[in-house]
Amino acid sequence: MRKKIVAGNWKMNKTYEEALSLVSEIDNMLKDEVSGDVTVIVTPPFPFLHAVGKLTQGNDRLHLAAQNVSEHESGAYTGEVSAAMLRSVGVEYVLVGHSERRLYHHEDAQTLYKKMKAALAQGIKPIFCCGEPLEERDADRHFEYVGQQLKDSISYLSNEEFDQVVIAYEPIWAIGTGRTASSQQAQEMHAYIREQLSRMFDAEAAFNCTILYGGSANPGNAKDLFSKEDVDGGLIGGASLKSRDFTDIVKSF
Ligand code: PGA
Repeated sequence: MRKKIVAGNWKMNKTYEEALSLVSEIDNMLKDEVSGDVTVIVTPPFPFLHAVGKLTQGNDRLHLAAQNVSEHESGAYTGEVSAAMLRSVGVEYVLVGHSERRLYHHEDAQTLYKKMKAALAQGIKPIFCCGEPLEERDADRHFEYVGQQLKDSISYLSNEEFDQVVIAYEPIWAIGTGRTASSQQAQEMHAYIREQLSRMFDAEAAFNCTILYGGSANPGNAKDLFSKEDVDGGLIGGASLKSRDFTDIVKSF
């Protein structure tokens, strides 16, 4: 059975107090309004992980993710945060390969592979992000582009490692722009991704892999996106900063 996931990526937003109120609002809304089997994930900035983790630990509805992890195990890497540190504060998932990290922090395919390995070694599940820039979509090369991203980072994992991975398809032109991929465009790409994965790993593992859509998803378009066969949920940026919007997205399956 494929897991349905809605993950909120808070990016570099919120102060400590704001983060705590957001997560407790979400927690209360989930308890009161949401039944069913959606795994809900929040992804606060590093300084708030510990405090938010106290709320998510032992909470079977709400789970904790980090926005980044070092590819190194430990040592002299000023400013970096290791997978073991994340694990020790209750982190269960980590974003790897978000386009903002690829672009602003020059994270390449090999680094992303190492980050996934580092996370997996600590029992943390990577949410591997992929997606094409507008030029590639306009030139009709989006399938090849995303296929290559998977090949360059994901294909080196073992079958056992791959079982722990979540994929997020996030077309760069849709991130924070208010321009969403149509549910048709999302479905087409998700089906393509699943097919590529079935060539790298076994077909059952590819079938069971959760593939999220990200890029200006909101309470108005989530239902349509989530109705598609290969869209198993969403990675939500802007709309995850408001408890009402985020919870409404969770209710969109
Ligand atoms: P957005 O961001 O929902 O604000 O477009 C999505 C993401 O970058 O994960």
